[in-house]
Amino acid sequence: MFLQVEDLNVFYGAIQALHGVSFSVEEKEIVSLIGANGAGKSTTLRAISGLVRPKSGRITYQGRDLTRMRAHSIVGLGISQCPEGRRIFTNLSVLENLEMGAYTRSDRKEIADSLERVFHHFPRLKERRRQEAGTLSGGEQQMLAMGRALMARPRLLLLDEPSMGLSPILVEEIFKIIKDINAEGTTVLLVEQNAAMALAISNRAYVLETGRVIAHGPAAELRADKRIRAAYLGDVIETDAAGAAGAAGAAGAAGAAGAAGAALS
Ligand SMILES: Nc1ncnc2c1ncn2[C@@H]1O[C@H](COP(=O)(O)OP(=O)(O)OP(=O)(O)O)[C@@H](O)[C@H]1O
Ligand SMILES: [Mg+2]
Repeated sequence: MFLQVEDLNVFYGAIQALHGVSFSVEEKEIVSLIGANGAGKSTTLRAISGLVRPKSGRITYQGRDLTRMRAHSIVGLGISQCPEGRRIFTNLSVLENLEMGAYTRSDRKEIADSLERVFHHFPRLKERRRQEAGTLSGGEQQMLAMGRALMARPRLLLLDEPSMGLSPILVEEIFKIIKDINAEGTTVLLVEQNAAMALAISNRAYVLETGRVIAHGPAAELRADKRIRAAYLGDVIETDAAGAAGAAGAAGAAGAAGAAGAALS
């Protein structure tokens, strides 16, 4: 198995964010973690990247135990995270931000090749390479954050909410680029609240709810599941009360997703 996460428990102080999360990613796959705000998606990625220490559980990558490894060593093994909220260096140029992404590498020629590859995926970054990153549009900043993650030449790319705050057209564009990056051989673990888009490009997905995996399966199966549709894909549940359809979302849907877990987990 390329990446295996087993029974992960993560705490922030007294608060338990992950309760025995287990999942796996095979090489060349796109796997999504979907779920509502606070479900534990970012925490899961941070644990893989070595940015938070799990209290218990195990993370193995190509047979190596990452669980207690330091973040920079994990990047060195080929795992690179594009964090939620972009976290670019706003007062540095686009080019300088991209160079920061290659900090664990030393071969100038290979770094230059990676830069060309990033510019191939994101031509707009090439045009704007001298521009101060803080003056980029939101969508361009997202491209820069992804480009910077790619500069580490990852074999496993962790993407945290790449579609957040982007216009529908740009969301389409970003998801197409994710598919292209994957087609070139990079394995992708994608965290998204935009479940519809995530499932559309993923091989498989896991649904997280309050720190637990409550459903998983091939993306096509989850997309077809009525309860998943209601909870995460915006389907409206029919109710007896006329006009109550709009209210069917939150409460009813959450319960439905829980039921789906029993069926699919
Ligand atoms: N640094 C922190 N200190 C304390 N609690 C935290 C910290 N980071 C996250 N949490 C809590 O852990 C839980 C999981 O948070 P996480 O950021 O993993 O959720 P998420 O699924 O990524 O949500 P979102 O979709 O809103 O980004 C939440 O209840 C959150 O409040
Ligand atoms: Mg998050």
